[in-house]
Amino acid sequence: MKHVPTRVLMVCLGNICRSPMAEGIFRKLAADHGLAVEVDSAGTSDWHAGEKPDRRAIATALRHGIDISHHRARPFRPTDFDQYDFIFVMDRDNFHQVMQKARHEADRRKVHMLMDALSPAQKISVPDPWFDDNLFEPVFQQIQAACDAWLRKWVAHPETMNTNRYTHD
Ligand code: 4NP
Repeated sequence: MKHVPTRVLMVCLGNICRSPMAEGIFRKLAADHGLAVEVDSAGTSDWHAGEKPDRRAIATALRHGIDISHHRARPFRPTDFDQYDFIFVMDRDNFHQVMQKARHEADRRKVHMLMDALSPAQKISVPDPWFDDNLFEPVFQQIQAACDAWLRKWVAHPETMNTNRYTHD
């Protein structure tokens, strides 16, 4: 039996602030927890497609030892439902945008508010820091706490990481 990494996609609006930070944080924390995870990120818009993360997001992540400068923004696409096991969205608008693209129930089951690990069913959003330089650090902390909560759940209950991530070879 071969273990296939669980694949995670982080989604926000522009894919230059919140979701690239979430991608870098989740990758680092998953490695710290010894979990096999692949992480990417995307935006519900294509406004910044091809761009690096916002310089404030890069600087904030770097202060915490995470380099996200290599990421290039890209829009979310319906085929992401086939490529990823978990789609973590930052806010309610992202949630609705991604849900609109879902083709069936199996797609919808993959979509979760990132903050749900800490505040289940409350639909708490990670605020958009784009217009406020002072939000980057608290947003980083909020994302980090939520990522850590998901990973702790997965460590405690590995079956929730995804029961169909095991294949026979
Ligand atoms: P993000 O932040 O969704 O966290 O990447 C934003 C980035 C750009 C814009 C809005 C939000 N924008 O309006 O261009």
